[in-house]
Amino acid sequence: MFDNLKEEVTQIIIDELKNTNDKMQQICDLLQEKVTHYDWVGFYFKNGDKRELKLGPFAGDPTDHTIIPFGKGICGQVAESNENFVVPDVQAQDNYIACSINVKSEIVVPLFKDGENIGQIDIDSNTPDPFTSQDERFLEFVNREVAKIL
Ligand code: SME
Repeated sequence: MFDNLKEEVTQIIIDELKNTNDKMQQICDLLQEKVTHYDWVGFYFKNGDKRELKLGPFAGDPTDHTIIPFGKGICGQVAESNENFVVPDVQAQDNYIACSINVKSEIVVPLFKDGENIGQIDIDSNTPDPFTSQDERFLEFVNREVAKIL
């Protein structure tokens, strides 16, 4: 499944008629629609010089958490650790920001541009413990593709 999706992501990235924001939006929509365990898909980016993340394009229910300070929640921790964070059960996390009561699990993968952690892709799932290393590799691929147009 991820092989086909990779091809579709690449097609979106190389589309000459769309701007970067539209491309990221299309990728969010694609992933949320095609991967059954991806219920909310969004990009967060470092907000200028501030030690905080700002929500970018996303697919799924709107969230109140459009700004997340570094260190807070799963997203804020990844902003500092530069490492993937796979959460099989969000209720087992102390440092977690709940967006919806339906969310059971989450994965956050940092996005690097020229070696710098400038943002991340964040996926919420209503399924418990659905994420494998295949999701990690796929989302790393997505972020590498997006980094090319940033
Ligand atoms: N759960 C995230 C907050 C962002 S929402 O999932 C959209 C966190 O703990 O950082």
